[in-house]
Amino acid sequence: MKLDRRGFLAAGAAAALLRPGVAQAVSPLNLGADAADRGIVFGSAFDREIFDDTAYAALLRAQCRIGSLENSLKFDWLKPTGNVADFSASDRLVDFAVESGIRPRGTALIWNDWLPDWLKWTTVLERRSIMEKHIDEVVGRYAGRVQSWDVVNEPFFPPHGIDGGYRKGLWLDAMGPDYIIHAFKRAAAADPKAQLVLNEAFCEQDDELGKSIRPLLLNEVKRLQDAGVKLDAIGFEAHLRPELPYDDQAFVAYVAEIAALGVDVMITELDVNDSHMPDDEAERDAQVAARVHDFLGAVLQVPRVTTVITWHLSDRYSWYRGADWYADQVRAGGGTPGRPVRSHLYDDQLQPKAAAFAARDALKASGPH
Ligand code: G3I
Repeated sequence: MKLDRRGFLAAGAAAALLRPGVAQAVSPLNLGADAADRGIVFGSAFDREIFDDTAYAALLRAQCRIGSLENSLKFDWLKPTGNVADFSASDRLVDFAVESGIRPRGTALIWNDWLPDWLKWTTVLERRSIMEKHIDEVVGRYAGRVQSWDVVNEPFFPPHGIDGGYRKGLWLDAMGPDYIIHAFKRAAAADPKAQLVLNEAFCEQDDELGKSIRPLLLNEVKRLQDAGVKLDAIGFEAHLRPELPYDDQAFVAYVAEIAALGVDVMITELDVNDSHMPDDEAERDAQVAARVHDFLGAVLQVPRVTTVITWHLSDRYSWYRGADWYADQVRAGGGTPGRPVRSHLYDDQLQPKAAAFAARDALKASGPH
């Protein structure tokens, strides 16, 4: 069921009543509980902002049952200058999650993007042992506490022009596509009970990029399974860009095809890029809410979609904020660069927007998972 713009404007108005100083006309949300009622785990990305922003920490505690460390468990954040990890921030963040009843998850153990300069100067022979050491020490350190890992992030990017459509990078250079198999087997050995996830971007899109990655990822699931890999789930990031082509039902059919291979499916980084929407915030909020509702309403038709994680809960910590490429997108969309981001469920003041109610409605309308 698609809610029309009027429906979302009404929801937006209801959300506005939650602003400080205005009587709360609607009950507070509990997205984690609403999701759990349908067998779905709901959460969000978070990171070091919670050390000082106690209000945001409280919002995460109130709404989330799972939480991805946005950056602090990434290779370049743990080992920025050399092959020795600094776990000081990640330890605090994992402690926060566990103490808050939020299942912490790590992203990304191995990723061919965003790698520190020092790794570029290592030989391809050294990198296999560097990968093994990394996985052993990071997964091993948090065994039993970090219950889910994006073991390999974004394995495919056909525009790189590499055989098989793989994303180019230092790990691929060192081991070929089998870096993926090796990473998963190493992670399973380091924590046999952890959920091991292969996480991918763009597949939600019905454009050339999204349609080119889907078959590659489907075949990779089969390849990993044939290699005896413990692959528990596929993560679809869902950084939605409404100005691009989407066919949600075609994506749902693809998700069902992936699930039919015997893996769970996770929505791992949900947000709605509002760059090509009008400057008017009420209009943007309505459009973001409509997209959240339609996308979740579609994808939650698949029973094996077990998890929905937003890429931050609030505009306050959006990865779009201050990004030059996002300002360029806003300009290209006819908007005013520098305008506040409105891409997430909660606003800068940590108040729920129409998108938060849209997510709640989609979760509550979902069948059992
Ligand atoms: O703010 C500092 C700046 O002061 C410094 O000069 C600069 C030097 O590199 O770094 C800046 O921090 C960067 C931060 O983004 C700014 O927001 C970090 O280096 C950079 O690592 C970080 O990028 C993160 C990106 O992944 C790469 O790890 C984003 O926070 C994070 O939201 C983004 O998340 C990714 C997922 O992991 C995978 N899927 C796509 C998603 C969005 O790109």
